Amino acid sequence: MKKQTIEKGIDDVARVKEVLDEAAGRVSKARRDFLKLFGYGTAGLMMGGLSVGPDGMPELVGSAHAGKKGNGKSPYAKEFQFDGNLLYMNIGTTGASPTRVVQDYYQDYKDIARNPTAYFFGQQVMRNTIAPGFGCDPYELVMSFNTTDGLWRILMGIPFQPGDEIISTNMEEDAGISVLNMLRDRFGVVVKKVNLPTNDAYRDQEILDRFDAELTANTKAILFSSPVYLTGARLPEKELCLWAAGKGILSIVDGAHGPGMLALNLHDMGCDFYSGAGHKWQCGPGQTGFMYIRNNNDPKDHTVERPTSDFAPFIPPAYWGEDTVDIWVPGYSNTNPLPTYYPTNTLIYGSLPILKNGERNPEHNIAAVLQLVGNGSRPSQNALTETCMMWDDWGREDIEDYIVSLAQYLRARIVDIWGPKSLSMPWDAMYPDDPDTVARVGLTSFNPFSPGFDYNAELTTEESTEQKSASGAAVTRLKEEFGIVVRNNSVPHTLRDEPSENAAPGTFSSPLRISTHLFHSFKDVDRVIEALQEVVPTPT
Ligand SMILES: Cc1ncc(COP(=O)(O)O)c(C=O)c1O
Repeated sequence: MKKQTIEKGIDDVARVKEVLDEAAGRVSKARRDFLKLFGYGTAGLMMGGLSVGPDGMPELVGSAHAGKKGNGKSPYAKEFQFDGNLLYMNIGTTGASPTRVVQDYYQDYKDIARNPTAYFFGQQVMRNTIAPGFGCDPYELVMSFNTTDGLWRILMGIPFQPGDEIISTNMEEDAGISVLNMLRDRFGVVVKKVNLPTNDAYRDQEILDRFDAELTANTKAILFSSPVYLTGARLPEKELCLWAAGKGILSIVDGAHGPGMLALNLHDMGCDFYSGAGHKWQCGPGQTGFMYIRNNNDPKDHTVERPTSDFAPFIPPAYWGEDTVDIWVPGYSNTNPLPTYYPTNTLIYGSLPILKNGERNPEHNIAAVLQLVGNGSRPSQNALTETCMMWDDWGREDIEDYIVSLAQYLRARIVDIWGPKSLSMPWDAMYPDDPDTVARVGLTSFNPFSPGFDYNAELTTEESTEQKSASGAAVTRLKEEFGIVVRNNSVPHTLRDEPSENAAPGTFSSPLRISTHLFHSFKDVDRVIEALQEVVPTPT
């Protein structure tokens, strides 16, 4: 591969060496912390197991230890089964279900084929099971078809008027871009875009300032994704949502990459709406997702009593029984009144007061109405519930810590070889002493193709085109020659010298995006780093 030096413009070899030495120190620190954190050599993690019970509902079946001293495997790996030597690192596109979930799905599907049955109902129990893991109430969490479906159902249900403004970003995925385009064309909504900075120009405060700069008297909502699919940046979600709430405007989060990667507390985040994927980091089957709609504004933690029957909101208790479960829900950081919201798709609009004319009431089981969209897939919804139960049993915070530590190890190795400027996010902010500011994501974006291994290097149109094909070729070689699946993407090109112009539209760079998930280990990271050194440019 073509060789070039890192830190373009810095002639002092000693300085470059110093940067590399520091990075090397961080690699071993990241690795030490990683090993320490996950108890290689100590007790290991408690791993739970799940299965589908005789009534077709997922249930816990006990726990087993996993994670042996120094075996170099993820303590979660035994729950997954990948083909031969495949190293799958594109969870950002879609995940892989645990083996037991696949078996239960198959059995469930077989049972339905033998004894077919309509499938409108059964999800109240699932929502009761899933919601606490995301820090919300079952009345406000809907099992959607995927992130795209949730985003469309959210945005098309808010009564926007011509001239209303939505502040979004230049790094939304097609799902967000597309629904915003529809609001523009159909209702005359004005979409304003904040350019997201990268590498050393990235600061949380900079993001907040850029949103603030777009605020006008017509602003009705903000829509942003976090983590950002192009760069892996986790934006300051809570600060953005509460900033919006403070201005009396709505917040909509595209959280495609949140569930399963991060320990989410949606009430604390303060968003009005959130759409996430079930099939990516949560490792559910295809066409599964989560749609959240804030349904209360009580700042105090409290317990809610929720029905177990799907018929509860529609038929008097005498007909459905009165079985309920108590569910603890965290207080809401966003205490604004509930926004008007219309269902866009339901079998039951008009005959009930729930969501009629967009009206809101915290007592209403809005999820029951929004869930009733005709026949669904019982195997898929059961399987999603089952993966959520596994994550809850393993502990979502532990999972997040594992994923982030592994990603930190990957980033430390990248910095060691390609330098800190090759990353999408500022390295110092990724491994500071203060854990609150760690880039807590499992998506790593880095660019070994840009001049000086600089994520923000200026590119001509020709360079941009060349980079795209080099990056595409690397992805193909990684797959075909090394059995490693990652992806690349087109990131709006940034200008580091002019932070205010960062991510100026026009040219695009083509970094690689690597997903590290709970089934990976540091050995997998070492393997991808070794392969990368064969297929992408490396510094001399
Ligand atoms: C940020 C973001 N939003 C939405 C989507 C669409 O996700 P889904 O396939 O769940 O609709 C993706 C997919 O990669 C994404 O990265």
